Amino acid sequence: MSRPLVVVGASGFGRETLDVVAAHNAARPDAAFEVVGVLDDGPSEANLTRLACRNIPYLGGIDHYLMTHEPVAYLLAIGAPKVREGLVARFDDAGWRAVSVVHPSASVGTMTVWLDGVVVCGGAQVSTNVHFGRHVHVNPNATIGHDSILESFVSINPAATISGDVHVRPRTLIGAGAIVLQGLSIGANTTVGAGAVVTKTVPDGVVVKGVPGVWS
Ligand SMILES: CC(C)(COP(=O)(O)OP(=O)(O)OC[C@H]1O[C@@H](n2cnc3c(N)ncnc32)[C@H](O)[C@@H]1OP(=O)(O)O)[C@@H](O)C(=O)NCCC(=O)NCCS
Repeated sequence: MSRPLVVVGASGFGRETLDVVAAHNAARPDAAFEVVGVLDDGPSEANLTRLACRNIPYLGGIDHYLMTHEPVAYLLAIGAPKVREGLVARFDDAGWRAVSVVHPSASVGTMTVWLDGVVVCGGAQVSTNVHFGRHVHVNPNATIGHDSILESFVSINPAATISGDVHVRPRTLIGAGAIVLQGLSIGANTTVGAGAVVTKTVPDGVVVKGVPGVWS
């Protein structure tokens, strides 16, 4: 029997996550989810139309839905790490439990450990002994090297490369196509810009740009 699932976020990553769930369902009918619909506190008209075109119900705003419905599985499908973190307590307090989904075209190595709410998109390559915190997103074609740690609410954007033995601290976003060299640590609340090459350990709360990456 399919497990009911609510997706949070009607924007780009929300609808990409719906695709990940659909591909997961096709590959794993024994562990399929039934998408109840999408929650969003302020969806654009364009995104409501996009949901309607694919026959996915829009369920309204988060707090009203949490007050009026029994808990089911959920996914925070919002690209911004701090927004995800800001929402979690509302679901925790209402007794909801996040699930993790992996696109069947992603590869995931041995000894990988994850907490709830992880989304791994198509074409991503996750090596061995990678640890994921809560609500980590790995976008399409990103690579996560062996023995790396991605702490809670980290986002790895499309085609970024995290080399082996890298530690990315909470709420940090690694931009599209960025490369983080092996053995480095990236601080919390940091953004690594698209295309940057990180060659040194990066502190908390900075924006890194360029090749080699410099921060401010
Ligand atoms: C780096 C980033 C976080 C923005 O930082 P910011 O300081 O707020 O950047 P701004 O847009 O104000 O631009 C400031 C300057 O940085 C430059 N800049 C912006 N992003 C850059 C990047 N990734 N690499 C190099 N330079 C960049 C701008 O051209 C601008 O230069 P200028 O002052 O000479 O005109 C953002 O551009 C970025 O790369 N985010 C990741 C995007 C991504 O991954 N997208 C995929 C989504 S799925």
